[in-house]
Amino acid sequence: MLSCSSTSLDHSFHLSFSNNWSLGTFRSSRFCHSEERSIIKPGNKQDNGTFVVHNKFITKDDLLISHSPIAQQDSPPPLVSALKASAEQSVASFHFPGHNRGRAAPSSLTQLIGLRPFVHDLPELPELDNLFSPEGPILDAQRQAAKLFGSSETWFLVGGTTCGVQAAIMATCSPGEFLILPRNSHISAISAMVLSGAQPKYIVPQYDFEWDIAGGATTSQVEQAFKELEMEDRKAAAVFITSPTYHGICSNLTEISKLCHSHGIPLIVDEAHGAHLGFHPQLPNSALQQGADLAVQSTHKVLCSLTQSSMLHMGGNIVDSERIGRCLQTLQSTSPSYLLLASLDAARAQLSENADTIFNKAMQLAFEAKHLIKEIPGVSVFDLASFSNFPAIDPLRLTIGFWQLGLSGYEADEILCRDHGIICELVGTQSITFAINLGTSRDHIQRLVSGIKHLTGTHAPIHGGKGRLQHSGCTPFADIKMSMIPRDAFFASKKKVCIAECLGEVCGELICPYPPGIPVLIPGEIITEKALDYLLDVRNEGAVITGASDPLLTSIVVCNV
Ligand SMILES: Cc1ncc(COP(=O)(O)O)c(C=O)c1O
Repeated sequence: MLSCSSTSLDHSFHLSFSNNWSLGTFRSSRFCHSEERSIIKPGNKQDNGTFVVHNKFITKDDLLISHSPIAQQDSPPPLVSALKASAEQSVASFHFPGHNRGRAAPSSLTQLIGLRPFVHDLPELPELDNLFSPEGPILDAQRQAAKLFGSSETWFLVGGTTCGVQAAIMATCSPGEFLILPRNSHISAISAMVLSGAQPKYIVPQYDFEWDIAGGATTSQVEQAFKELEMEDRKAAAVFITSPTYHGICSNLTEISKLCHSHGIPLIVDEAHGAHLGFHPQLPNSALQQGADLAVQSTHKVLCSLTQSSMLHMGGNIVDSERIGRCLQTLQSTSPSYLLLASLDAARAQLSENADTIFNKAMQLAFEAKHLIKEIPGVSVFDLASFSNFPAIDPLRLTIGFWQLGLSGYEADEILCRDHGIICELVGTQSITFAINLGTSRDHIQRLVSGIKHLTGTHAPIHGGKGRLQHSGCTPFADIKMSMIPRDAFFASKKKVCIAECLGEVCGELICPYPPGIPVLIPGEIITEKALDYLLDVRNEGAVITGASDPLLTSIVVCNV
């Protein structure tokens, strides 16, 4: 067990060295300390690109990827190993972070998480490589990830998929160029247009009123966007698709990537919710398997790395990888967390160990859960019936509708949480979404099923349930009129205008009600009557208005134009 108290810290290994070394001696000695360990020691890199491992000279390529699956299983995750070795060295540390390898860690936090996270929270020491010009364990770890996920190059991200999406769009779209993207793209795609100066060409996703859920993008929608741009003598610089969506809806990326490539245009996929795709015969293929040029995955969402750690994968070679590197360097911290980076390496290793079977149990549990819940009268299980023009849905996303019981998703969630200790991933007006993953146990599935059974037992099915959101009939994106591109609107001077007086003004903020999480107004768009009606409608129904400086919508920030 780890000690919880900072006073009982075992720092004895820090005290055992002479205190009169020069820096040069110090550096070479620290590598001597770890000579027996089978790690790559970038500090021992020779001028000719070879490394010393176990006192043998081998080339970097020998080290990077083992082509034998058995050897890959046996070799420890390179960045995890490097971090371990570095933390174990007996050193006097005069570097950041100020908690000094845990010696000055705040006790309120060590009581919670122990000392080890602090001991391993190291800066960019020579033996730990550099995220922005990797040539040691980070490069090794990224290459092993590239091999596993089938990319030509993989970048580890410490700013989540948010920064990967921004980098992907900045690397493909220059100021004034067009980006084809769904209207319900994650906010990171909108901020990417602010950063890059790209102009949006929106695809309006299909929307299901019963579930209050938006679908993905179809091939014909992308084709239509190409045509509309061509009619104006314009061309897209990139196409951006979210697949799977939060609810697990997968687009036909095989078709979309073929279409994009026939126009010589790169396909970027926001695969934040799909890092596990392709790792089970019944899981849909991943974006890279379907021909995407760039895919950004939140490794921390479905796989097991730490929150905020993601990967950006490149397929093929039509995107300039050096430009991606420059964009990532612009967007990410110059002090990336090695805990986050090592967690990506560890999550990759965990998956590599038995990539063919690792999701068997989770898939089985998801199947059982759906089967059992479908038999409970009064609830609905979300499937592709509502979006029949999409090829697949992620089996590990479980969305349950409660409107037949007269309950909104919020009400059902409150009961499940309060009475049964069931915590979901996403709540909507009509439904709740549960994420099933490698940590899901049969116990928890049973608890979920019995919680839902209990809920249906105490809330008799009614007709025309009150939980259902009664829209005024307009969709969240019925009427889009852009007056300025997002970047210009972002930098324009702004004022706050009372809601009653903002009709016709140019919106200065992104206003996005959850659910369904589709921005109704994006900076630079004219505030129309339909947009206002919809916003007030969903606000009155209890939707949370995100992005607006006044979430109650008594006022809206507009551009001074
Ligand atoms: C579709 C989608 N894209 C991107 C993101 C951003 O991912 P991250 O939290 O890893 O930055 C999210 C986050 O929920 C998301 O749902």
